[in-house]
Amino acid sequence: MTCPRKNSTDSSRHSTPKTDGDPNVASTPVTSTAEEKRAALRARLSGVADRGETAERYRRHSNPYVARMLDGLGMDVHYVRGAGTRLYDAEGNSYLDFAGAYGALPFGHNPPEIWEAISDLQQSAEPSLTLPSLLDASALLAERLAQAAPGHLNQVWQCNSGAEAVEASLKLARAATGRTLVISTRNSFHGKTLGALSATGRPRYQTPFGAPSPGFTHLPFGDADALKRAFDEHGDETAAFIVEALQGEGGIVPAPDGYLATARELCTRFGAKLIIDEVQTGLGRTGRLFACEHTAVVPDIMPLAKALGGGMVPIGAVLFGEDSLTEDFGLRHTSTFGGNAFCSRVGVRAVELLTADDQALVRQVAERGEYLLDGLRRVAAKHPDLVADVRGQGLLLGVQLSDDPDIHVSQGLFRSLADQEGLAGFLCGYLLRNEGIRLAPAYFANSVLRVEPPLTVTEEECDTLLAALDRGLGVIEQGDSRRFFAHLLPKTGPRDAEEAREQAVAQLPARPAVPDQPLRPSAGEPRWAFIAHPTDMASYESYDSRLGLPGEQVRVLFDRMNQCRNVDTAAAMLVGRCRVRTDTGESSYGEIYALPYGAQRLLDMPTARATALVQEAVDDAVARGAQLVGLGAYTSVVTANATALKDVKVPVTTGNAYTVAAAVDGLEQAAVQQGIRLDAACCVVLGGAGAIGLASSLLLAEKVGSLVLVGNPANRRRSQERLTAAAQAVVAHLAELGGNPAAGSLAWAVRARAAEGVDHARIAAELSKEGLLTWSLESEAVLPGGDLILAATSTPDQLIRPELVRQGAAVCDVSQPPNVGPQLKKARPDLKVVAGGLVEMPGRQDLGVDFGVPSGVTYACTAETMILAHRLHDPVVSHGEKLSVELVRMLRDEAQRLGYRLHLPDEHTDQPTGDPGHE
Ligand SMILES: Cc1ncc(COP(=O)(O)O)c(C=O)c1O
Repeated sequence: MTCPRKNSTDSSRHSTPKTDGDPNVASTPVTSTAEEKRAALRARLSGVADRGETAERYRRHSNPYVARMLDGLGMDVHYVRGAGTRLYDAEGNSYLDFAGAYGALPFGHNPPEIWEAISDLQQSAEPSLTLPSLLDASALLAERLAQAAPGHLNQVWQCNSGAEAVEASLKLARAATGRTLVISTRNSFHGKTLGALSATGRPRYQTPFGAPSPGFTHLPFGDADALKRAFDEHGDETAAFIVEALQGEGGIVPAPDGYLATARELCTRFGAKLIIDEVQTGLGRTGRLFACEHTAVVPDIMPLAKALGGGMVPIGAVLFGEDSLTEDFGLRHTSTFGGNAFCSRVGVRAVELLTADDQALVRQVAERGEYLLDGLRRVAAKHPDLVADVRGQGLLLGVQLSDDPDIHVSQGLFRSLADQEGLAGFLCGYLLRNEGIRLAPAYFANSVLRVEPPLTVTEEECDTLLAALDRGLGVIEQGDSRRFFAHLLPKTGPRDAEEAREQAVAQLPARPAVPDQPLRPSAGEPRWAFIAHPTDMASYESYDSRLGLPGEQVRVLFDRMNQCRNVDTAAAMLVGRCRVRTDTGESSYGEIYALPYGAQRLLDMPTARATALVQEAVDDAVARGAQLVGLGAYTSVVTANATALKDVKVPVTTGNAYTVAAAVDGLEQAAVQQGIRLDAACCVVLGGAGAIGLASSLLLAEKVGSLVLVGNPANRRRSQERLTAAAQAVVAHLAELGGNPAAGSLAWAVRARAAEGVDHARIAAELSKEGLLTWSLESEAVLPGGDLILAATSTPDQLIRPELVRQGAAVCDVSQPPNVGPQLKKARPDLKVVAGGLVEMPGRQDLGVDFGVPSGVTYACTAETMILAHRLHDPVVSHGEKLSVELVRMLRDEAQRLGYRLHLPDEHTDQPTGDPGHE
């Protein structure tokens, strides 16, 4: 099996407007004159010539968050015409609409019968808003709905949306019972106004708005025992139990058999109202006029909306029995627009269309729903790993994609997205752009594709969807991320380069079979997690080899994907799982996560936001079982070396202590190779006041002739203070050091003065004058004096330029992203430049996770996490600015014992982290 090449016929599949099978369009043939007229009319109506201006208006004045998200997903198509199940864009491409405005399109787009009702209204000149007089149209709609309603529901209150209908239902119940408690279900959706939102069982959507209001409680959906217990305890205070017959936004989840009957019985017994929310399921959607009719249960109160608007107008209504009507409600709950003639006339026509010919359309929905469900099941059976479930009723169906990352074997975006439950959203984008199919994930269940076409959808249209979905799932199954995400990427590279990459991807080995035994922690095995992020272009590029894209383009893709984050998207993506075996025969289980932001992006965002992202990633990792979490690269920087993280239940390490050991050892080895005598050498430490720089300086100060600490010039005063403190810390450390430092060395000079009782601050000042221990903010000025250079900064800039370095010097760069550019090695073969902070795994084992370092090699901070996982009984971590030298030495010893070795790539050849690339 090889990766399929891009199929050039895909985009043409929906490139011509189709009128066949579409009765609405067939009667109005598309001519270029008609199109031109429409375009001119559109331009006049909206006052803009092109879509860019609309998008800009939206971003500026409407909702930039949603505009960005749609753009990220590639979902924002400029539809200019709708007819039946089809939409058309300005270029004439047609799209089959299986998202169906979340159930608000019973008869498709622009149904002629609804336009006829509107036109009749226009010609009759009937006024729409005549409050406080009663309206004919409103009264007629009430009567029609009462006639269609189940059981004794003969009262109708009219409003303008589903949420308002729910709001009114809650007030009806409270007024009728004189009680306030409303029981609802978790993962339910009842709307966004405060009362409806309080009933909606989804804390993430409630908390920012102070919801739920007092008087609401939530139980697991479908759990009859929990409901019984709740009524046993609170039945006498309960005004209502509100529930969907089939949870729509919660992931197309039908109520289990008997659940509604139990609810009915409990509500009756305790004198509470049963509200069945049929805003989405009502009026034919599930193959019965009302979903509750699939059971014998009749609610007391039933909110409706969506389909009642005929796909054209906003409207809502509540059906209820006289036993729920009170004077309080009747005289105190009103609406300016509710029951207006315009919407009511449309509602009347919608009810007529649904009930005509003994509900022929609704019966057709039941049939077509079966057909589509069967078809979806057949497609699912062809992709058993990918599709976890297919379910639903009538034309409210759901296809649940598996969120098991292990079904996507190789590291890459499919694996990460599956784990984040983000695959369904991107599949919708793919199907839209490549197959001309509109689908949308369920609101509260991101891995469920909601299939909710107009009730008038044809079998042929269903077949088109099924074939397209089959192909889309096939692309994922093949691991063909290049093709899957192509529509999100601008084609920028030269053509031959593009082709070469395409060929390279085509030659990648076929997707390996899913292993029978995915990697899981064994009992008692220590579990760690490591939170990283792409630090350079090489790490972007290696993230998903099947994209076959240069790092810059992968970064563009990440940025677009970040635009699509919704409130449920996990902060970090799972990169891979691994088991580490040490030379001593111990093992640990680890999970590696990545925040999808480069260093510059993390620096550019407000610190509070960056910290919140890391906090969330850490909390998620702990929730998934990590007993120790390590922070990589800028995740340490933005959290002030983990000090900004709150209430983490397990130890968190920055990995800095072992990075220090690796940095110092790396620099010393480089010095030896360059024949540099340490006790006579001048050592420049960039980032000398930072956590890694300072601890490294303490250790290097024990051996070198003189030391220059360099601070960040961005904040001069603070840096000066920190450098002064760092210099005194160096003095204090050397003053207490045992042994016999070489005469003339820095340590020797400190010891001599300390023995005379000179205080540390004065020693520092004296040594500074003598040039033995100095500090500076100007790296350009001091770098040329260094025989040894250690870079441990948090700036993504390439500070160490070829012209700044002394002949024959040794350089060790542990900054991530590096401060050494690739040109340094090329331009200066006299230098020994090592990318410090890299270590070889015990036995050079491959972790199976590629994050821009060679196989069998990892970052020292990652290794520290692995090493400390074996010390959970006596946890120690790198935390904060001040690292103890003892911790560094302990990690060096432990690493040695477990089999980790310094990784110093061959001189002038191997640049392990690739082109650092600037962001
Ligand atoms: C079951 C249910 N109730 C209430 C609502 C809220 O309706 P609206 O968006 O018209 O306020 C919805 C909308 O999706 C719904 O599905």
